[in-house]
Amino acid sequence: MRCLGLESSCDETALAVWDSTSRQILYEQVLTQVDLHEPFGGVVPGIAIREHLRGFQVLLERFNKTFGFSEIDRIVVTHGPGLIGCLGMGVAYAQSLQLLLNIPVLGVNHLQGHAFSPFLENYQTNKSFSLETLCPHLGLLVSGGNTLLFSIEAVNGSYQFNIFAQTVDDAAGEALDKGAKLLGFPYPGGPFIEKYALEGDPQFIRFPRAFPQKTEWKFSFSGLKTSLRYYLEKQTEEVIKSNKASICASYQQAVVDALSKKVEQACRRQKFKSLGLSGGVANNECLRSSLEKIAGDYQIPFFVPSKRYCGDNAAMIAFVGSFFQAPLKLNPNRTLEEFV
Ligand code: KG4
Repeated sequence: MRCLGLESSCDETALAVWDSTSRQILYEQVLTQVDLHEPFGGVVPGIAIREHLRGFQVLLERFNKTFGFSEIDRIVVTHGPGLIGCLGMGVAYAQSLQLLLNIPVLGVNHLQGHAFSPFLENYQTNKSFSLETLCPHLGLLVSGGNTLLFSIEAVNGSYQFNIFAQTVDDAAGEALDKGAKLLGFPYPGGPFIEKYALEGDPQFIRFPRAFPQKTEWKFSFSGLKTSLRYYLEKQTEEVIKSNKASICASYQQAVVDALSKKVEQACRRQKFKSLGLSGGVANNECLRSSLEKIAGDYQIPFFVPSKRYCGDNAAMIAFVGSFFQAPLKLNPNRTLEEFV
């Protein structure tokens, strides 16, 4: 089966084709809008919607000329969660293609795309690779908008998701971006925090870690950001400048510790056959190493996508869409209810 995936939940407009017979991504294009939103310090919905409208036009024309729709069996579109107008663009294009070409459309959850993304490249390179043998799987999804700890269970040839913990306020990526903004870095600031942290001392400041107890199945990062703000308000510009690397390292460490602690607690509570990491913050080497270590301690394999599939992309959407047999279901929403 060939699935054409469309992704437009935030600030990336993307198209990809996944062929589940040859287990290959046959086509892939992403247009990012990061530079357009950077001056505003975050994603501006009106600009994002306009760019998706334009971006899909460009991508679909290019796709039609170079690949064509004749062998596409299914269109898979992200229908939530995300910015409602942005999701609507992808859904509207998918429905137009359905009307024009009579190809069935399936709406998939963006978070399920991320949740499956650690396996995409293994399916490509290892023809006998199967997620089923790695379930129950424990996954951590960390992005600019979401922080989720979940499991994937294989049930009667299908997959079920269970959420263990999610953030009660800011997502991990949001906390990194807001912290970075306080430190004067441009948006998105997560990669700048990581870059500076390389030269710094992670023990320099002990920032708070929320919900450390194993009975507290939640994440919270807004207190951490406030704590950084209070710290910076008390320092002179010179002190901040000369200790910027260590402030970044301490802040990053607090985020990584809070995430790792819950992963560790989940591994202690239940036996999993694999551990996965996904989402934009999965680009972070400190977080990758921390989770790899936990997987090593529990002697289970660790899966993380290569960096091109950590951020938003359509390959993961086309890929996850080939696993589910659900009928046409388009329902853009901002809730998590369709994740499980
Ligand atoms: O999944 P993603 O591309 O999309 C959104 O949710 O919008 O995630 C973006 C997030 C941003 O918060 C960004 O700062 C963070 O991922 N991020 C990183 C790194 N690369 C991207 N955070 C820490 N270290 C990185 N290297």
